[in-house]
Amino acid sequence: MLKSVGLVGWRGMVGSVLIQRMKEENDFLNFHPYFFSTSQFGSNGPLINNILYKNLKNAYDIDFLKEMDIILTCQGGNYTKDVYFKLRSIGWNGYWIDAASTLRIHNDAIIILDPVNNEFIINSINNGIKTFVGGNCTVSLMLMSLAGLFQNELIEWISVSTYQSASGAGAQYIKELLKQMGKLYNVVSDSLYNDSFSILDILNQVTNSIHSKNFPIDYFSVPLASSLIPWIDSKMEHGQTREEWKGEFETNKILQSRNPILIDSLCVRISSLRCHSQAFTIKLKKNLSIQNIEEIIKNHNIWVNVIPNTKQDTLLKLTPSAVTNTLNIPIGRIKKLSIGNKYISAFTVGDQLLWGAAEPLRRMLNLLINL
Ligand code: HSE
Repeated sequence: MLKSVGLVGWRGMVGSVLIQRMKEENDFLNFHPYFFSTSQFGSNGPLINNILYKNLKNAYDIDFLKEMDIILTCQGGNYTKDVYFKLRSIGWNGYWIDAASTLRIHNDAIIILDPVNNEFIINSINNGIKTFVGGNCTVSLMLMSLAGLFQNELIEWISVSTYQSASGAGAQYIKELLKQMGKLYNVVSDSLYNDSFSILDILNQVTNSIHSKNFPIDYFSVPLASSLIPWIDSKMEHGQTREEWKGEFETNKILQSRNPILIDSLCVRISSLRCHSQAFTIKLKKNLSIQNIEEIIKNHNIWVNVIPNTKQDTLLKLTPSAVTNTLNIPIGRIKKLSIGNKYISAFTVGDQLLWGAAEPLRRMLNLLINL
């Protein structure tokens, strides 16, 4: 019998990417989907394989939810807080797959990234674990690129500088970034094509615009277009942001490290739309040749691609514009650092909405469907 899968938050940004990927892979043929809504129950759901899913269910209807074998939610942390514990407290024993971070710190929740921790996921299922949570996007994208080095226990520590897209903050932030970009273009559109304006005139017009009262900053609080924001999420201890803290905590939880690997970051929002990039400084435990390092990285999974450290390859293959809307995980700029032969740099790019969010959830659902 086909399993019943409740889908919540499928209309949001991550949810829409998830549904699109599930359609592409024909996942819907393998289970019985029920579409839930927190606000529009009763109305029509999506059209999939020519079937219109009518009569959206109420996402707070515990009696209906408890009939599901699996619930997959991209609705966000508040929904998880509201509904997950209620369902568990009445004895619901189904599988819960979640995009939100709320449950990641719980001991009985597994952070999922199956190309990296498939064995741990399977063991957990066999041990009766029922709660599976997608990882932080930056962490998942780092692990997809560096998993070969992690799994061969070659990493002593990593220092990461991130370049994170607006999508990581949410759909409204993408729109605001685009409004900011449009505003800047509009303010100089005539001057750009008129040689009587000097470049300083043009820069001054931009500066005046980003400092003007009507520059759109409702979401970011400050301009991001033509700027960057070196702070993501809330403040933690020791000067870290929560985004930076997650790097070490989640990586070690995903890898089930016996001796936690030291990872710290400086996380920065930039004006990319949906790709996170990361620059790594890595201290290896051994002095390995670059060729050896590249082999280890590229042999780990089919999505990671080692990009030769040339200008042409880097420009063509190692940028957000090259990677956006693909499952490709390029990693390049791999070189030894002058500080010592165990120190290397590397740079990776990944789509924040695919491997950073939707893809691990989709794959987890398939894993459970095929049990
Ligand atoms: N917290 C991440 C960001 C996205 O703000 O870019 C989700 O993991």
